[in-house]
Amino acid sequence: MSVIKLSDQALDQLFRLAHTHYAWLPDREVSNETLQELYQLVRMGPTSANGQPMRLLFIKSLAAKERLKPYLAPANVAKTMSAPVIVVVAHDLEFYEKLPALNLAVDARPWFAGNPNLIQETAFRNSSLQGAYLILAARALGLDCGPMSGFDAGGVDQEFFADVSWRSNFLINLGYGDTSKAHPRQPRLTFGEACKIL
Ligand SMILES: Cc1cc2nc3c(=O)[nH]c(=O)nc-3n(C[C@H](O)[C@H](O)[C@H](O)COP(=O)(O)O)c2cc1C
Repeated sequence: MSVIKLSDQALDQLFRLAHTHYAWLPDREVSNETLQELYQLVRMGPTSANGQPMRLLFIKSLAAKERLKPYLAPANVAKTMSAPVIVVVAHDLEFYEKLPALNLAVDARPWFAGNPNLIQETAFRNSSLQGAYLILAARALGLDCGPMSGFDAGGVDQEFFADVSWRSNFLINLGYGDTSKAHPRQPRLTFGEACKIL
């Protein structure tokens, strides 16, 4: 495969014209097949030692949304409950148990076993990265996202992950956004403000 710079149209869709969305086209559902297609892209993004600690809970049913509702910050309730899908981006604190199957080049499991600080740091860093891959993969598929950290993560963990070692990181509302209701673009830092070249 020859690698080329993406077209302006693709860069606009992924970055320049893409917005965080809070309102959703009511007649556009997100099929389970689309969620499968989305994950097939997301899983290809790089993670440290190929550990892939992110776990995803896709909340689609009204019953599951009602279970999530009490843990949302009040300002996030309406925009979340109206989304076709709410993705709980989580990480598995036992992700390292899968390393022998995921990394055939090095025995990385012993780096983590019995080291809770490194487990937490690695799981959080990489699930945050994988959540960002999800946002961009969703945009590449023509979907829109509304990422959110305004929620009670401990409460969500008790409600949905009581019997597993998953811990929630952040939420992503997912659907086809109502562009007429997108917020105006807020300023971005310039290269000079955010970057240094040594
Ligand atoms: C990790 C994360 C957490 C966020 N949490 C919230 C939130 O709790 N509530 C909310 O209304 N917006 C939330 N946002 C949305 C941001 O404010 C928004 O993405 C940012 O202002 C950029 O907007 P734009 O994509 O339209 O330029 C969050 C975004 C990210 C990436």
